[in-house]
Order: sequence, then structure tokens, then C-alpha cells
Amino acid sequence: MRKKIVAGNWKMNNDLAQTERLITDLRKQSKTSKAEVMIAPAFTNLWQAYQTLKESSIEVIAQNMHFAENGAYTGEVSASMLKSIGIQTVILGHSERRAYYNETDESLTKKVDAALANDMRIIFCFGEELEDRKSGNEEKIVGDQIKNALFHLKDSAFKNIILAYEPVWAIGTGETASPEQAQDMHKFIRKTLTDEYGSDVSDAVSILYGGSVKPNNAKEIFGKPDVDGGLIGGASLNAEDFFAIVNAF
Ligand code: 13P
Repeated sequence: MRKKIVAGNWKMNNDLAQTERLITDLRKQSKTSKAEVMIAPAFTNLWQAYQTLKESSIEVIAQNMHFAENGAYTGEVSASMLKSIGIQTVILGHSERRAYYNETDESLTKKVDAALANDMRIIFCFGEELEDRKSGNEEKIVGDQIKNALFHLKDSAFKNIILAYEPVWAIGTGETASPEQAQDMHKFIRKTLTDEYGSDVSDAVSILYGGSVKPNNAKEIFGKPDVDGGLIGGASLNAEDFFAIVNAF
């Protein structure tokens, strides 16, 4: 059985006091679904968030990391630094990082390798832009993003990999992929994995959908057979909304 996962990507939101307040609110919510729950606060608040939640069922994860172990990379944070404060999981390849910080398949390959070398779990994000979808190129774009950054890995690496399909045109826009569009793409992603690694690997990998998931559309999206959860932006900043999504399974 594949894991069901709902992860909140807080992006560059919430200072320390706001982080503590949102965590307090999250702890008041009750979980009625079996989904694993994760939140990704900003780097500055990871330690505090981890300390507060380490005995709870909410995992605190990072939004990014550098590929090097250490060195002259001003402003960056490494996998071992994250590990040293208890963080086990990192989001890599988010479209905002690809668009604003020039993350490429090449740099993401290095980040993937560094995270795995440090025994971390990865939520690996990818997705097409609106023009790609309009021109019918979405599968080619998504297939290449996956192959270029992940297909050098051995089968065994995939037990530490969660995939997240986030069509760029649906992020923060209020426009969601329809449940059918999400299912079609998730099915394609799983087939891409099956073709390379076989179904033992592909059947076990959780594939999350991200892009304007809200309490009112989560159930329908999560109801699709190849959708194993969500990566939630805006709606993860409100405890009630986030748990309404968590409990949509
Ligand atoms: P929104 O849910 O705000 O569209 O963001 C999705 C996202 O980018 C999660 O990583």
C-alpha cells in the first residue's frame, strides 16, 4: 500500500511568532485520515518547529538545501546541517526555485544525490508551464524533468523518494488541474517509472499533486487512483483548512 501524504509548503511565510502560533493551531486539529502530515517552515524556524513537534505525528521538513556538504556557499544550508537538527525530509525542485534561482536538472541531480547520501527523504517537484500544456507538450516536459534528475538512481533509492506533480499554471493561481488532468498525468508519471524500474518500484512511490488544493477540491483530487496526496501552499497557512485537506482522504 502506498503512503498517503499531505505536506504543507509554507514558502517564505511566517516569522518565529507566527510559526509558533500556527503550530499551536495545528496541534488543536484532529486527524481522522491515515495520511502522513508534514509541514515545511522557513529555515530560521525549523529548529523551533522541530522541537515543538518531534513527539507529534506532524513531521517538520525543509523547503530546499544545497548540494555541497559545506564550503564557500554564502547563504546556503546543507543536508548535514538539516540532519543535525533532526530534519529528515527535504523538498527539491520546486518550480519557484527552478524559475527564480535557476535550479536546473543538473543542479537538482546533485541535490538529489546529496540528500540521499545523507539518508534523507526527498519530495521531488516538477511540472509543466501553461505554454507547455497549451502546446500539448506537458508529458514530454514532465517526463524529461523526472528522467534527467532521477533516472541515474538505483531502484533502492526510490524508497526515499516522493514525487510531487505541480503544474506551474495551477500554483497560487486558484486554478487547479481538474481531477482527471491530475490523474492522467499521475498515471503517465507512474508509467514512466514502470518503464524504467518496473512495477515493484513504481507501485510503491507516492505521487502528490500540488497547485491550488483547497478544502473544497481535495476530496475529488485525492479520490483518483494515482494521486497519493498533496503538496499544499496557500491553504497550509491556515490550520483548519490544512487539516480539512489532510482529512479529505
Ligand atoms: P498553492 O497551494 O498555493 O497553489 O501552492 C502549491 C505549491 O506550490 C506547493 O508547493
